[in-house]
Amino acid sequence: MSFRIRRQEAREPGPPRFDSYRVSAAPNERILDCLNRIRWDQDPTLAYRMSCAHGVCGSDAMRINGVCALACQKLAKDYAGTEILLEPLPGFAVQKDLMVDLQPFFDKVSFIKPYLQAMTVPPSGRERTQSAEDQKVLDKALRCILCACCVASCPVYEEDHAFLGPASLVWAFRFLFDTRDEARMERLVQLNSPKAAWGCRNHFNCTRVCPKEIPVTRSINMIKREIQKYFEEGKGQELK
Ligand code: FES
Repeated sequence: MSFRIRRQEAREPGPPRFDSYRVSAAPNERILDCLNRIRWDQDPTLAYRMSCAHGVCGSDAMRINGVCALACQKLAKDYAGTEILLEPLPGFAVQKDLMVDLQPFFDKVSFIKPYLQAMTVPPSGRERTQSAEDQKVLDKALRCILCACCVASCPVYEEDHAFLGPASLVWAFRFLFDTRDEARMERLVQLNSPKAAWGCRNHFNCTRVCPKEIPVTRSINMIKREIQKYFEEGKGQELK
């Protein structure tokens, strides 16, 4: 397998460089296995993130031949005969090589309060329960592993880093449609903004690259419909 990897030191002025490597890989080994082999056997200075190696932690997101993906989910055999270009996720400051600073991404997710807000005290000794049917609505959104592939692929975020971005909106969806959450009104008001739900222009890039196959754009459109319903019923102040 041939690799061309974008290399850059943190805050180093000037253009990045591209280093080439060759490694042997069995067909079912992953791009992450190749990266590990490069680092262990050829170049210990190469920087990238990884943890679980099984598509669970979301830490090895990068751009592989121009498409944002998890290196641990991409098989060597699918790139046989081609040179594989590895680059850091676009739209974020490079810390080193394939590692980017995801703090702005996590700040945006925090902004939508990604936790259950329920003030009503449940009956003593009981949990807050939810029917299987209600939970099914959230099922796919619950898969988000915060890898940031969707945000890095979003043309709206590329133009305007103030846009909340698809991942935050998926988390907003997850709590907006949770029947146990009691902050519905606050969430709808927060999401009713050109920098939030209305910023999405249905490019569908997020849906295409999501490694957990979450229907991201569809979830955002469901938020928009909820906002419209809420404000049309006259409970809110204004639309958009
Ligand atoms: S290393 Fe955890 S998702 Fe790939």
